[in-house]
Amino acid sequence: EMSQSQQKCIANFALLCCLAVLVALIFSSINIWGDVEDDVTEENCSTDCRMELVENIPDHLSFHADSRPHLPLSAGFHTLLDQARYSVEVVSPVWDLNAWDVEAKQQGQLLFQRLLRLASRGVKLKIVSGLTNSAELRTLAEHDADIHFVNMTALTRGGLHSSFWIVDRRHVYIGSADMDWRSLSKRKELGVTVFNCSCLALDLHRVFLFYWQLHDKDYIPSIWSKRVTALYGRHDGLELQLNSSQAVAYVSTSPELFCPKYRTKDLDAIHQVIQGAKTFIFISVTDYLPLLSWPYRGSTVTRYWSPIDEMIREAAVLRGIRVRLLISFWRKTHPLTFNFVTSLTSLCTQLINCSIEVRFFSHKEHSDHLQHRLNHNKYMVTDNAFYIGNHNWVGSDFAISAGVGLVVQMKNSVPKGAATILEHVRAAFERDWRSRYAKSL
Ligand SMILES: *[C@@H]1O[C@H](CO)[C@@H](O)[C@H](O)[C@H]1NC(C)=O
Ligand SMILES: *[C@@H]1O[C@H](CO)[C@@H](O)[C@H](O)[C@H]1NC(C)=O
Ligand SMILES: *[C@@H]1O[C@H](CO)[C@@H](O)[C@H](O)[C@H]1NC(C)=O
Ligand SMILES: *[C@@H]1O[C@H](CO)[C@@H](O)[C@H](O)[C@H]1NC(C)=O
Ligand SMILES: *[C@@H]1O[C@H](CO)[C@@H](O)[C@H](O)[C@H]1NC(C)=O
Repeated sequence: EMSQSQQKCIANFALLCCLAVLVALIFSSINIWGDVEDDVTEENCSTDCRMELVENIPDHLSFHADSRPHLPLSAGFHTLLDQARYSVEVVSPVWDLNAWDVEAKQQGQLLFQRLLRLASRGVKLKIVSGLTNSAELRTLAEHDADIHFVNMTALTRGGLHSSFWIVDRRHVYIGSADMDWRSLSKRKELGVTVFNCSCLALDLHRVFLFYWQLHDKDYIPSIWSKRVTALYGRHDGLELQLNSSQAVAYVSTSPELFCPKYRTKDLDAIHQVIQGAKTFIFISVTDYLPLLSWPYRGSTVTRYWSPIDEMIREAAVLRGIRVRLLISFWRKTHPLTFNFVTSLTSLCTQLINCSIEVRFFSHKEHSDHLQHRLNHNKYMVTDNAFYIGNHNWVGSDFAISAGVGLVVQMKNSVPKGAATILEHVRAAFERDWRSRYAKSL
């Protein structure tokens, strides 16, 4: 039989539990961060946006003269910084803007200096990083930047691959480039800058807040604030005006553990774009590998990871969609890549109306420079939509590493050659596909 003090103890404990749940519920539903920049909400944010394709094309890569001029990535970053009035938020897997390589580092240094000077203009720089020992981050912190550390090893054993910017909660950048001097000189990069687009910026900012809250945590909380739930997703995208054409857009993330309520997973975003294609699907990624590997007791476990392979096979064989896959051929290309893509291309044997083509983007590599002229792109474009992400199309990346993606679907059919962002992305793909650097197996 319980003594009175035991009963009292149990009652107190129950009360404490109730209180804890109550506090958690309250904190999850109200704004506890006291943002000062809340002048724009999802009710009155702007959807009349300007979206531009930004690319870094390394020197010594030459394409056909008739290819459309692209906006340089460095110009895109500087335009974003020109616009900044009160905040610049950056997520990048790498911080290496000041390199030892004298001839190539200027653009990186210039960007770093501008980030250092933001504080003197009264602009707050906030950074989320998975790096613990970065000299550049220390320097930025000494210049008033707020830096939060996300320990991906503790959370998923993956990496923080996410790479995006949010400026004043109005303008954004998403793409393949990191805060790495190579992204501004030696590597081929592709991304988009979006201006005057506070609705999209607000949603991407929720992904930023999600990371921000993971600062120094070694677990992912089970209760999240409403401030990080997604505003838009694959079932209810954001209706946008892009340069006077109508489009629908949303942000996706991975891994699944990093998807709070309503947030679309990268893999589901890719699925929707592939499913929605009517005539073609063009994919440009550094690595393509349907394998999942993770460290286990000192060794590595590897499994076959089929989702994207399946989507491509279905689109090509059952729906007659033309598929082109442009993969980088470089020192780190996994040898099984060739087996998996050969299997894909042989699928169309003896089938009319079936086309899966694969080419490898390569150039003569200098032995001492691993990433020179590497095609670092990570995107897909179809006849009506595109997806730009942070991940290579490798199982492990989607399963355990953090990344974001942007889906943009055009609402009306776009005439070929029209000056829309979709056409610009398609033109960039076709330029690379037809270039002398793209070689068949
Ligand atoms: C948007 O709405 C918020 C809250 O309702 C309000 O404080 C803010 O002034 C509005 N901003 C604009 C630009 O209309
Ligand atoms: C990150 O988490 C791992 C695993 O929990 C731990 O060993 C490591 O010390 C953590 N790193 C930092 C910088 O806190
Ligand atoms: C954003 O919109 C404002 C007002 O319409 C305009 O003055 C400004 O130039 C735009 N900014 C960009 C970067 O397009
Ligand atoms: C090829 O596919 C297209 C689109 O699905 C279809 O309209 C056409 O009839 C097909 N042609 C053949 C020969 O199957
Ligand atoms: C937007 O429209 C302007 C003017 O018509 C054009 O110069 C620009 O290339 C367009 N941008 C995009 C991304 O379509």
